[in-house]
Amino acid sequence: MAARSVATLLKRSVSAATSTQTTRCMSSSSTPKRKVAVLGAAGGIGQPLGLLMKLNPLVTDLSLYDIAGTPGVAADISHVDTGARVEGFAGEQDLGEALKGCDVVIIPAGVPRKPGMTRDDLFKINAGIVKGLCTAIAEHCPGALVNMISNPVNSTVPIAAEVFKQHGTYDPRKLFGVTTLDVVRARTFYSSLKGLSVREVNVPVVGGHAGITILPLFSQASPKVQLTDDEIEALTKRTQDGGTEVVQAKAGKGSATLSMAYAGALFAEACIKGLNGEENIQCTYVASNITDLPFFSSKVRLGKNGVEEVLGLGTLSDYEQNGLDALKEELRSSIQKGIDFVNPQHA
Ligand SMILES: NC(=O)c1ccc[n+]([C@@H]2O[C@H](COP(=O)([O-])OP(=O)(O)OC[C@H]3O[C@@H](n4cnc5c(N)ncnc54)[C@H](O)[C@@H]3O)[C@@H](O)[C@H]2O)c1
Repeated sequence: MAARSVATLLKRSVSAATSTQTTRCMSSSSTPKRKVAVLGAAGGIGQPLGLLMKLNPLVTDLSLYDIAGTPGVAADISHVDTGARVEGFAGEQDLGEALKGCDVVIIPAGVPRKPGMTRDDLFKINAGIVKGLCTAIAEHCPGALVNMISNPVNSTVPIAAEVFKQHGTYDPRKLFGVTTLDVVRARTFYSSLKGLSVREVNVPVVGGHAGITILPLFSQASPKVQLTDDEIEALTKRTQDGGTEVVQAKAGKGSATLSMAYAGALFAEACIKGLNGEENIQCTYVASNITDLPFFSSKVRLGKNGVEEVLGLGTLSDYEQNGLDALKEELRSSIQKGIDFVNPQHA
């Protein structure tokens, strides 16, 4: 597919995904410069995500960082005939330069899940990677919006928060766990079950980003169609197990990369639009007080400062309320695991 048609497709998808959720649009006379970094840019998610960010007209500078392999990826992506200036950085000595001046930092660095592995099995490796990268963000671009993709997101976001607190740079409005793939899956599964146009469909997904902590709210889906209890159960389970479905189908060759890159690109664009004054509403995992958990995914209004408002859960069905009650213990312990990783003396 030609670059322009991919860009058009992405643009259409992004507007469709956000248009029904946009609360207020403030036009600006000129589009500001926006620098985006992808950390883990040579990986399965990082490569297509880098490409999608290169296709995004809101991105003026694209910084591609990995521990290895980025010069080739950056050279390749830089030949795409869109406006963003691309630079590749390989190795820790270049990380500071990669981050300097960034408005948005997207982190898909780490190891993906293999069959039989839970997201928590990844914890030890990815926790260390995220801690190191966030330390560099605190030093080199403390004001950037951080989009955390590395799993387990339920723990890596609290890890990032603790690292930023230690450096005195923590701003809860600027740290996000990317749960957009759960929303993308819920929209896809709901629309295909009911024969709806997916572009018209929205489904809020709340909670966290692993197994039962992923709670799609089909009672609040739009357009509203009648679902039986069995259909709700099946849609909920498929959304919660979407990651496992891909891991098993790839049979040892990684986890969701292409759909994740698409979801990551949607969310990064929503963040940039917010920074540019075009407020919009997305589901994302953030510091929150809408439940008794310190981090929670829900609808959030994005704007010039990142999170402008964390929105409430709305009215839940009994099925969803039970799901919420059931997920809290697991989510609480994943959050605590992240906090303790950075502060072992308190564990
Ligand atoms: N949030 C989500 O919805 C979601 C969905 C799918 C996958 N993931 C997660 O995304 C992560 C990446 O998955 P993938 O399939 O792209 O894995 P991958 O192994 O293909 O790529 C990971 C990349 O990270 C790089 N990396 C490792 N350590 C690094 C460091 N210190 N600094 C910079 N880069 C480093 C590796 O070199 C590699 O290129 C995994 O943790 C996976 O579980 C999240």
